[in-house]
Amino acid sequence: MAGNKTFTMIKPDAVRNGNIGNILAKINEAGFRIVAMKYTKLSAEKAGEFYAVHKERPFYGELCEFMSSGPIVAAILEKDNAVEDFRKLIGATNPAEAAPGTIRALYATSIGENAVHGADSDENANIEGNFHFASTEMF
Ligand code: RTP
Ligand code: MG
Repeated sequence: MAGNKTFTMIKPDAVRNGNIGNILAKINEAGFRIVAMKYTKLSAEKAGEFYAVHKERPFYGELCEFMSSGPIVAAILEKDNAVEDFRKLIGATNPAEAAPGTIRALYATSIGENAVHGADSDENANIEGNFHFASTEMF
């Protein structure tokens, strides 16, 4: 059965471009409830740990550099069918292929700097939520 929580980050490009408020509004309008949230910054080492699954990919170095290039917003979100519905809300990895109205279609600038992260499974949502919020109270 699909779980009811997902994990997201508003990436450094979207923070720099002043889109935190716009993206949170889309998240709220789509019916997600914020369970935990923080404004924070990843070190290059922590970014590498977070995206370790991609360490053999050619873009890994660039990804770690980008994800540690400025502050992010990390959050745990709740909704029925959260992981799948959130991936629909953010759109394809490459903004050129993202459906109109999706967060990446609206706010991403390139395949690398694509505004938001969304967990891709219930298992990873749980792992990624713990990565950022291990000892944080949930609401
Ligand atoms: P995310 O994990 O951030 O939600 O993105 P995703 O599932 O849509 O895409 P994924 O394949 O997991 O890739 C993770 C992030 O790596 C960067 N990327 N750059 N230059 C490239 O070809 C390339 N491909 C991926 C993006 O920031 C992507 O979101
Ligand atoms: Mg991914």
